[in-house]
Amino acid sequence: MLIALLPGDGIGPEVIAQARSVLAALALPDLHFEEAPVGGAAYKALGVPLPEATLDLARRADAILFGAVGDPDCDALERHLRPEQAILGLRKHLNLFANLRPAKLFTDLANASALRPEVARAIDLVIVRELNGDVYFGEKGMRKTADGKREGYDVMSYNEDEVRRIARVGFETAMARSRKLCSVDKANVLETSQLWRDVVIETAREYPDVALSHMYVDNAAMQLVRNPGQFDVIVTGNLFGDILSDQASMCVGSIGLLPSASLDANQKGLYEPIHGSAPDIAGQGKANPLATILSAAMMLRYSLKLPEAADRIEAAVAAALASGARTADLGGSMTCEAMGEQVLVRLT
Ligand code: IPM
Ligand code: MG
Repeated sequence: MLIALLPGDGIGPEVIAQARSVLAALALPDLHFEEAPVGGAAYKALGVPLPEATLDLARRADAILFGAVGDPDCDALERHLRPEQAILGLRKHLNLFANLRPAKLFTDLANASALRPEVARAIDLVIVRELNGDVYFGEKGMRKTADGKREGYDVMSYNEDEVRRIARVGFETAMARSRKLCSVDKANVLETSQLWRDVVIETAREYPDVALSHMYVDNAAMQLVRNPGQFDVIVTGNLFGDILSDQASMCVGSIGLLPSASLDANQKGLYEPIHGSAPDIAGQGKANPLATILSAAMMLRYSLKLPEAADRIEAAVAAALASGARTADLGGSMTCEAMGEQVLVRLT
């Protein structure tokens, strides 16, 4: 099986290196890696954030392990040349429309959460985020108003097919867990959200065993810190899911802990930590590799159908944290490499 490694920018290469070592240590037969540049690194080397050869590797691979993209050197470039276009392009070209972002508190990290430990302890949820539509991919641009003022615009839209397919992923995810699904929208203001809500309600007829609820996104943001234990599976659009998943990460201790899977209709997937390239700490060995290592575990589970290998990684991460291993984001001083090593030595 071929794994495409796309380290990208900032701390991407550091965290991918640790995830690669952990995968290699599993000694699984037939696991091959091929690496390609992406994001600002690709722009600097080849003039585009998503080179043809990188996209080709991503298509050929059985699964993709992605680091992060984003580079302040590239902030002034035209939008189509910016690093972020690489991840958006991969999601779109490969039809990776379903983004699963689990957030669960590791018992030993209750004190690292931004919430009170007794509130944080109850967190065990999955955000199912739509990834191919919404304001991310609508028409956008800069224009002048009638009186000559500059105006930026980004069109938000969803069609019913896009909503239905992600709603089904939400319901299926709920079926495999506690059969509770909360759909998050802003239907009190946005037509896009009204359609979203209508289609989610229609889709619910296919899943009579799932208890469906709806929540406005502002309330969801509040409830996520007030009483996060009430959530099991959240299904939401691209923009709201982006924001709520960063928020969920702080509720479980650190953005350095949350993995994600971005899947197409056949469970082919791209796996990445939800954090960004963190240019401020890049190259200093301060990054937490656990989100990427846990993303590798998700890759084994969903795309490579090796759930036992995924369990081995997740158990080793939990054991490393239980032993007190902490990178800076968790209040410790361990380097990225040392944290990777702590996981490695606990693989059984
Ligand atoms: C994420 C990131 C990306 C997004 C950026 C890098 C384009 O924030 O995966 O959450 O907004 O989707
Ligand atoms: Mg984000």
